[in-house]
Amino acid sequence: MPKLSLFPLTAKVNNQGHICIGGCDIADLTREFGTPLYLFDEFTLRHKCHEFKAEFSKYYPDSLVIYASKAFLNQALALIFKQEGLGLDVVSGGELSIAHSVNFPPAKVYFHGNNKTPEELMLALNWNIGRVVVDNFYELELLNRLAKEREVSLDILLRLNPGVDPHTHEYTTTGILDSKFGFPLATGQAEEAVKQAMSASNLNLLGLHFHLGSPIAETKSYEVATELVLRFVLETRDKFSFRLGEFSVGGGFAVQYTLDSKVPAVADYAQAITNKLNSLISQTGLDSPHLIIEPGRAIVGQAGVALYKVGAIKEIPGVRKYICVDGGMSDNIRPALYGAKYEALVANKALEAEDELVTIVGKLCESGDILVREANLASVFPGDILAIPVCGAYSIPMWSNYNALPRPAIIMVNNGEACLIRRRESYPDLMSLDIG
Ligand code: LLP
Repeated sequence: MPKLSLFPLTAKVNNQGHICIGGCDIADLTREFGTPLYLFDEFTLRHKCHEFKAEFSKYYPDSLVIYASKAFLNQALALIFKQEGLGLDVVSGGELSIAHSVNFPPAKVYFHGNNKTPEELMLALNWNIGRVVVDNFYELELLNRLAKEREVSLDILLRLNPGVDPHTHEYTTTGILDSKFGFPLATGQAEEAVKQAMSASNLNLLGLHFHLGSPIAETKSYEVATELVLRFVLETRDKFSFRLGEFSVGGGFAVQYTLDSKVPAVADYAQAITNKLNSLISQTGLDSPHLIIEPGRAIVGQAGVALYKVGAIKEIPGVRKYICVDGGMSDNIRPALYGAKYEALVANKALEAEDELVTIVGKLCESGDILVREANLASVFPGDILAIPVCGAYSIPMWSNYNALPRPAIIMVNNGEACLIRRRESYPDLMSLDIG
């Protein structure tokens, strides 16, 4: 069963033909917790944390992996990342609050975002977080003013826009000049930002950051951007005596969603980035900066599986067979938004031949509510369980209550035990904030 390689590392098929993850039979889990259900495998999560830490520190010992919370964060995951010694990239007061609620070490929290509000920046100041990654001139001035009022000095990085196309979806491309993120190198605004940050009374310019986009299935664009930014550092070192103490290459590391897609391994990204960095350091005599890597998708993607129950099946002779499941674009908008592709498997028939070509759709009132346009499945009937692997990143945090569908439950499995880490929403939950 080749599709099993896309599932969490603990995935197996038992002799009843059921998929088991973390020692738990998926048929039992869906009976106990209902569907749609999002499952995370703790072993895979921790393994990915170790892999990132080991691969980058092998070639560049002074490195820190910070998890990009936007891929999915809740309290259970935040506790795991805290135990694994990762840092955290947050982009809102909300993500910051989740981190705060589990006493995540504030020094390892990096605050990103292109329009942080004064209230959010105050939260960051009150909690004394490690770094704010300043995105634009408005924020530079605002943050300095807030820090001055509080009589504190704050460590910052500047987000630069190196003007490098990472060849990914237009909506998730951020490293090109025409982007809302960062100070462009090409226009001289990056240089102006360094100058202003160096002279800001209550900010301490510690380093520079870039993030090119997501997912990036090539290593070359990281190398090109690293070179551009370090060459820029050499110029600013001479002009403003700026010293690069910290260098963040962002996230964007791709994961394999389908059997026919190929992506670099974590080791390939690590080698490409650190080789480039090490060789530029030795060529130019720059001091070695502390290296920051910000993976989101590549930490949680494979660890997560979406489980649905099959309901209606509609066959249009000679046209298409639709398999309808009990979730859809409300819990995973990625296929509709980005044309993202997934594989699917009938989780209670994993030993049966997959000889049907079908389209898997959700139950939302939109024709675009397609989860997998072309899926090869075993013969499927109402009541069967469909599993979609590699759903751990950006499905849950982008989910909605469209059509007033309650959001699914989330469980964590490990060593034969399953633990609810977010309960299923109820109908009263849907009205709990209404006034009237
Ligand atoms: N650092 C920064 C500054 C970012 O903006 C992002 C992602 C990351 C790190 C993590 O990127 P990752 O390693 O997860 O690829 N909703 C889209 C992805 C948007 C990514 C936004 N920024 C999707 O579903 O594909």
